Amino acid sequence: DTRILHITLENQIDLIREAAMTLKIGGLVAFPTETVYGIGANALDASIVRKIYEAKGRPSDNPLIVHIGDAIEVEKYVADIPEIAIPLMKAFWPGPLTLIFKKNHVIPYEITGGLDTVAIRVPAHPLARDIIRQSGLPIAAPSANISGKPSPTNAAHVILDLSGRVDMIVDGGDANIGLESTVLDVTSEPATILRPGGITKAMIEEVIGPVTQNPSNLGLPDDDTPKAPGMKYKHYAPKGRLVIYYGSKAKAIEAMNISVQKSLNNHEKVGIIATNEDREAYNCPTILTIGSEHDAHEIASNLFKVLRQMDDLGIEKILTQAFHEKEIGVATMNRLLKAANNEQRFV
Ligand code: TXA
Ligand code: MG
Repeated sequence: DTRILHITLENQIDLIREAAMTLKIGGLVAFPTETVYGIGANALDASIVRKIYEAKGRPSDNPLIVHIGDAIEVEKYVADIPEIAIPLMKAFWPGPLTLIFKKNHVIPYEITGGLDTVAIRVPAHPLARDIIRQSGLPIAAPSANISGKPSPTNAAHVILDLSGRVDMIVDGGDANIGLESTVLDVTSEPATILRPGGITKAMIEEVIGPVTQNPSNLGLPDDDTPKAPGMKYKHYAPKGRLVIYYGSKAKAIEAMNISVQKSLNNHEKVGIIATNEDREAYNCPTILTIGSEHDAHEIASNLFKVLRQMDDLGIEKILTQAFHEKEIGVATMNRLLKAANNEQRFV
């Protein structure tokens, strides 16, 4: 049975203690972070870590991020701290930046999928931090979705995916960024962005100078073995077939409206993801708005929710225009392309 803890101002002290205690005794606890919800468990115990993979239905060669309460603790788990990591930790921790270090013997290979490196971050969400600090443990926490589905940005998503599979779900409201952390490998030179996220390339470069970006981040074909092992799996996918339209607004809207008509003629349930600005231009029985085209953060924060809403409505085909690839828009398009399995139309 899964216990669900609804956090309020009055009960938070007791419930945080209860969640931390559940982690201490080897339980799985889903909790909110500022990016998405995670499934947390003691990162030091290999047999507990295996339970996370089981709960998610995730391949065990896909490594997990270790979450710590304070930056200073990183030295307990890594073989060394590269010089460039220090200003990054100062600038972005706590926050949505995950750094890849060489691991030390304390970190079990079950966490790292057999790699000699370990991913670490300090989450900024106060509930996540308090739970981790009180547990006194480093906490492995992948996104709290069934493997392959869009990541959960609220407790309802987690309850749907993980009821009966974890010991506890902490409901702390919406995860406000809505996309997972940026993953940056600081063991390579220059450092490499393995997964784009809320901390953008420009923000990182302002602190440490030029970094490279794994081409698969951009949705380009990438035949090399992906360096962030998680990126090779089908990800973030809604049940329906998702197609992304590129081109001038007018042409994309026209092509999408034609595609909607074809679907309707074939009795296929079709839905459009629209910005506030374009909504009126579409002719479709189901239109879900994702936010203003001028607000990249709003679009990022609503992406996974909208994909899950399409599933709830039983939509079989989902059409969207591409979003602007600036700032967090790079991460939004990375997730959208993976969700679409790279299905694109250029009009
Ligand atoms: O925002 C986030 O990072 C969320 C919240 C819960 O903190 N967590 C998250 O975890 O997204 P997960 O397990 O869904 O994604 C972890 C990503 C995967 O792409 C994985 O391949 C990569 O980090 N990763 C983990 N350890 C790695 C390592 N040693 N080397 C390279 N990539 C690694
Ligand atoms: Mg994930």
